[in-house]
Amino acid sequence: MANDTSPDTPSPTLSDGEQNIPRHVAIIMDGNGRWAEKRHQPRIMGHRAGVEAVRGVVEGCSKKGVEVLTLFAFSSENWRRPKQEVSLLMELFMTALGREVKRLHKNNVRLRVIGDIKGFNKALQKRIAKAQTLTQENTGLTVVVAANYGGRWDITQAAKHLAAQVQAGELSVEDITPEHMADGMSLADLPEPDLFIRTGGESRISNFLLWQLAYTEFYFSDILWPDFNRDALDDAIASFATRQRRFGRTGQQVEQSKANATLEKTC
Ligand code: FPP
Repeated sequence: MANDTSPDTPSPTLSDGEQNIPRHVAIIMDGNGRWAEKRHQPRIMGHRAGVEAVRGVVEGCSKKGVEVLTLFAFSSENWRRPKQEVSLLMELFMTALGREVKRLHKNNVRLRVIGDIKGFNKALQKRIAKAQTLTQENTGLTVVVAANYGGRWDITQAAKHLAAQVQAGELSVEDITPEHMADGMSLADLPEPDLFIRTGGESRISNFLLWQLAYTEFYFSDILWPDFNRDALDDAIASFATRQRRFGRTGQQVEQSKANATLEKTC
């Protein structure tokens, strides 16, 4: 199994002094439009300001020792927005990718894009491929950008992959496990998200990582995405650090296994 985090094996968080740091943070960056509207500006100005916030959060996660940061940049459903907003967003992705990738590379960040990339124009597809190739050997923070992505699309891709294996006689239906499904999905080679953040005051997951968020801790913030700064990220991580993750076990079992681990360390 490629995924090293499952409900049976709680995600080992990293230690930053006394604080537990999530290995993988996944974010729905909501509130760009309202941020701009509040300032009587066109919505695209909010998305532009959103790119600045992305920069701050990438730096914050790198400094804290987060291993993976997944950002929901464009959902499969965002094509339903006004044509002009969609085309300005595409332009913004093009310029942001061109401009930011050098900085990311310099900072040892690995960039990955998940989603149905074929839905984008050829120039954007090319730029995505170039950015991924340039940064693929980097060993610092992995930034995953979910673009033309949907959780249901992701699960469907995995189901198709399994169906093809069954059809080819490589796998029998009876032998299919949740791990087979997980292996066929985006992020299969990365730890599952420990912390999910949604900004902008909405409390839903909007077809984001439906499969991968099964055991993730949720954090909802009223802050509009362009205002989500390093302090806001620290607050989210501090909230995560107070959570007891049980993965189906009782609180007592969790405390006992923690005590055993401490004992093992000191012996
Ligand atoms: C949701 O806010 C935001 C988006 C659909 C776009 C997110 C894109 C960025 C932050 C910029 C680019 C990011 C990268 C990684 C290159 P909304 O428009 O739904 O806000 P609203 O709810 O206030 O209308």
